Amino acid sequence: MNTPAPVFEARRVSKSFGPVSALKDVSITLFPGEVHSIIGENGAGKSTLMNIICGRFQPTEGQLFVDGKEVHFHLPKDAQAHGIAIAPQEISLVPHLSVAENIMLGAHCGPALSIDWRKTRAEATRHLHEVDNSIDPAARVSSLSKAQQQLVQIARAAATEARVLIFDEPTATLTYREEETLMSYIEALAREGRSAFYISHRLDEVRRLSHRITVLRDGVHVGELAPEEASRERMVTMMAGRPPKAGAQPLRDLPSTDTVLKVEGLTRAHEFRDLSFSLRKGEILGVSGLVGSGRTEMAKCIFGATRADAGRIELNGKPVSFRGPLEAIRAGVIYLPEERKQEGIFPLLSIAENTGLPTLDRFTGLLHLRNRDMMAEVEKLAGQMKAKFNSLRDPITSLSGGNQQKFIIARWLMRDAHVLIMDEPTRGIDVNAKFEIQSVLRKLTEERGLSIIVISSEMEELLDVADRIMVMHEGKVKGAIDRREASQEGLLQMAMS
Ligand SMILES: Nc1ncnc2c1ncn2[C@@H]1O[C@H](COP(=O)(O)OP(=O)(O)OP(=O)(O)O)[C@@H](O)[C@H]1O
Ligand SMILES: [Mg+2]
Repeated sequence: MNTPAPVFEARRVSKSFGPVSALKDVSITLFPGEVHSIIGENGAGKSTLMNIICGRFQPTEGQLFVDGKEVHFHLPKDAQAHGIAIAPQEISLVPHLSVAENIMLGAHCGPALSIDWRKTRAEATRHLHEVDNSIDPAARVSSLSKAQQQLVQIARAAATEARVLIFDEPTATLTYREEETLMSYIEALAREGRSAFYISHRLDEVRRLSHRITVLRDGVHVGELAPEEASRERMVTMMAGRPPKAGAQPLRDLPSTDTVLKVEGLTRAHEFRDLSFSLRKGEILGVSGLVGSGRTEMAKCIFGATRADAGRIELNGKPVSFRGPLEAIRAGVIYLPEERKQEGIFPLLSIAENTGLPTLDRFTGLLHLRNRDMMAEVEKLAGQMKAKFNSLRDPITSLSGGNQQKFIIARWLMRDAHVLIMDEPTRGIDVNAKFEIQSVLRKLTEERGLSIIVISSEMEELLDVADRIMVMHEGKVKGAIDRREASQEGLLQMAMS
């Protein structure tokens, strides 16, 4: 049988950022109708390679070929002209424009005068509905959830009718229902003969979708796997260069029966109704549920970012009603939001400043800032979470997506708190680092008596780290169950019942 010619090829590509060598001599091909996954730990070079392929970065060395002919991309539109489009890892939409307008902007790089707006709008809507039919094409992008924005980016890439589509962690923000739709969508694209590079830390997706899997480690191509030989164990071992550590945190009995946080009948119109639960000292409570189940809204309300219409909250036995997040933080209640780009980082500041800023008060000495103490603590936490960075003085934007997330987590772990609410904390973080972060959380509950609420769309994560798991659905608590008795099926059933 003849192998078809590759639609795309990168040959011996390298990329350096100053002293950091992000990619070293990487070669890769993509065939018509193929889904080719790229896997690797945080900072392995996946996004860098994809950004080169779509014309956002230029390689330091190496060549690119489309249909066997060498190409040189200076800008994304050059790659687009050759039929290559990307749905990038970080959201890059125009927030005050509508969904349809964003999709159309992506699809047209020609002069605006030549566009038939009505026809393009209809096209945009068609592409959007192929990916998700619940999003209103007329809605402003800024009014959408992060998951919906990610779906719009995917529709925008697909709308270019590109032959080569790049999906850089498209499912990081999605829950299983949207994930399922997206998987079928990509499978259908491949059946039509279009090709895709696919990046994800969710390894079961990778195995299901891919025709081929390439593994990167520290910017180097370390091997290729066929899906049938790609067991989870094998993939993790190749990515890390050593066998994986054990998965779940051990089951335990909590040392204390004290209740730290008690929520009773908490209600906020159109968001959640009559929520009641309690959180014990040193406990990790997982919160499971679909997008739109009210989990984030509940967290924001406890944190004082929004006001409840009814109900009460007690902290260490005393009723509290925070008028704003500042009051909550002073009382020792901290919320780590899911929107890291909009709410999470200061893009102009360094890694150290981003991590240490909210805790500066802790490091203020009599005469000067004890900068060295702060740096030492940031470094210690970064080490525990296996963060990959060059210098803490580099801008935070020079880090890979997963490594940025690790420093945002570190920022809040440096604060003394009673209750820490984390919204999708390990989104976009690789399997091994996830395990390290879960171990850090466990240690904090044991050593400092910190109580943690983890909101996660990944049931596996909750089954690995939580002592107890609460399920929310359509703004209501459906139940809570000890991890000893919990299973993925059981949690799903609880959500649906
Ligand atoms: N603009 C930049 N300036 C300096 N260094 C950079 C820049 N972009 C990426 N790097 C470095 O290149 C390396 C690879 O980063 P890349 O974003 O490709 O990783 P990744 O595999 O996509 O990781 P993740 O899974 O966390 O998204 C990292 O060490 C990162 O710090
Ligand atoms: Mg990346």
